[in-house]
Amino acid sequence: MRIILIGPPGVGKGTEAELLKEHYQIPHISTGQIFRSLTQTDKPVGKIIHNFISRGEFVPDDVTNDVVAYRLMEKDCEKGFLFDGYPRTVFQAEALDNMLKEKGQKLDVVVFINGKDDEIVERLSGRRVCPVCGATYHLLNKKPKVEGLCDFDGAKIIQREDDMPETVLKRLTIYRNQTEPVIEYYKEKGLLVEVDGAGTIMGTHQSVLKVIGELSDID
Ligand code: AP5
Ligand code: MG
Repeated sequence: MRIILIGPPGVGKGTEAELLKEHYQIPHISTGQIFRSLTQTDKPVGKIIHNFISRGEFVPDDVTNDVVAYRLMEKDCEKGFLFDGYPRTVFQAEALDNMLKEKGQKLDVVVFINGKDDEIVERLSGRRVCPVCGATYHLLNKKPKVEGLCDFDGAKIIQREDDMPETVLKRLTIYRNQTEPVIEYYKEKGLLVEVDGAGTIMGTHQSVLKVIGELSDID
């Protein structure tokens, strides 16, 4: 199964990806998460990436496509993959098409999780993440078992640098300009299904499974 999750920042792509990954037993590939891990290394590219992410801007397409091409070479991608946050520009979507063509592979479905700006700002302002393993929480909607600490490794959970209000608004504007055309791109190819992300986490998950089943005949 080869799936893309697309939608505005903070709508719940990462949260849904964790559930879909278990359901289909495929790797969850978040370019945002890969980039955040690179910023924590000594590699020079980590500093460059940090400059873009902290300002809420996209990492350049060539860097992003290279990172994805390497990730797709790993063995676990042979059984499929679930992209979260990639592709985000039409140029990246075309690059992915070429990567898959070279492997004789095709996408099964692109799931667009849609959401309203006020809901997104609420979700991102309440989001907390584990700096060690990347697990995501929310102050109201998805609390850790022990307040302030990650369920998996006990690390102190923090607010992401790019979740500050001005940066969130900038990410939303860039999303409208750069990523909405990607949604159109997949709609024209007949691969797009849409879900309203306004419901609960499990409600959204049930809707996603339903629309995927309707398009691809896979349960
Ligand atoms: P990335 O990490 O992909 O950020 P994003 O797309 O902005 O999305 P988020 O991770 O902020 O939100 P999400 O939709 O995953 O929501 P979540 O599940 O956490 O990218 C970060 C940066 O990296 C980019 O800005 C860019 O600089 C760079 N980058 C990444 N990919 C790139 C690319 N392809 N090209 C160029 N640059 C790239 O949920 C949010 C909160 O809401 C959580 O607290 C969660 O608990 C809560 N929540 C989730 N679902 C629900 C629900 N149904 N009900 C209630 N609460 C919910
Ligand atoms: Mg995410």
